[in-house]
Amino acid sequence: MTTPFIIGVAGGSGSGKTTVTRKVLETIGAEMAAVIVQDDYYRDQSHLSFEQRLATNYDHPHAFDWPLLIEHIDELRCGHAIEMPSYDFTNHTRAERTVTIQPAPVIVIEGLFPLYDAALREMMSLKIFVDTDADVRFIRRLKRDIAERGRTTDSVIEQYLATVRPMHNQFIEPTKRFADVILPHGANDPAVDIITTKVASLIA
Ligand code: C5P
Repeated sequence: MTTPFIIGVAGGSGSGKTTVTRKVLETIGAEMAAVIVQDDYYRDQSHLSFEQRLATNYDHPHAFDWPLLIEHIDELRCGHAIEMPSYDFTNHTRAERTVTIQPAPVIVIEGLFPLYDAALREMMSLKIFVDTDADVRFIRRLKRDIAERGRTTDSVIEQYLATVRPMHNQFIEPTKRFADVILPHGANDPAVDIITTKVASLIA
C-alpha cells in the first residue's frame, strides 16, 4: 500500500469544516477516504461527575486525547484498521461504541486543532484552514447546539464568551499560519472546487 494522502481540515467551531470534508468526499468518492473527526478524540471523562464534565474547557488543546489520535493516524498510515472512539456531546464524554475505520488512500483529519501539533502537520500533504467570520460561526453554533447537542441559548452564549471565543483567538486562529490553503468565507464553492479537483487528480 502506498502512503496515504493526508489532508488536515482545521477551523473554528461552526466554520464549515464538515462541509469542506463532505465536498471532498463527494468528489473523490467516500470509499477513497478514511475520515477522522477530532471531536471523537475528546478525552474520556466517564470517571468524572456530570457537573465536573460541565466545567471542562472543551476548546483548549488539552481537552483532547492526542496520543490516541496520533496512534490511530499511524495505524491507518500503516494500512491497519482502527476502532475510532465516538463522542457523546450530551453527556460530555466518550460513548461506549466505537466505529471501525478502514485504511484508505486518503485520510482526512477534521477538527479544531489538526494544524496544532507539529507531528501531525508533518504527516499532512495538504493543510487547509477554513476561515469564517466569528459572527457567522456563532450563529451556526447556537442553532446547532440547541438542535443537536441538548443546549440552551443561555448556555451556548455563556460558553462562547467564557471559552470558545478566547480559546479560538489564542489557539485555533494562530494555526492558520501553518495552512497551505486558507478558505475565506468557509466552504465557498469556487475554493472548494479548486481543492477537490486537485486532490482528485493527485490520487488518480
Ligand atoms: O463541531 P465543532 O467543531 O463545533 O465541535 C467543537 C466544539 O464542541 C468546541 O468548540 C467545544 O466547545 C464543543 N464541545 C462542547 N461540549 C463538549 C465537547 C465539545 O460544547 N462536551
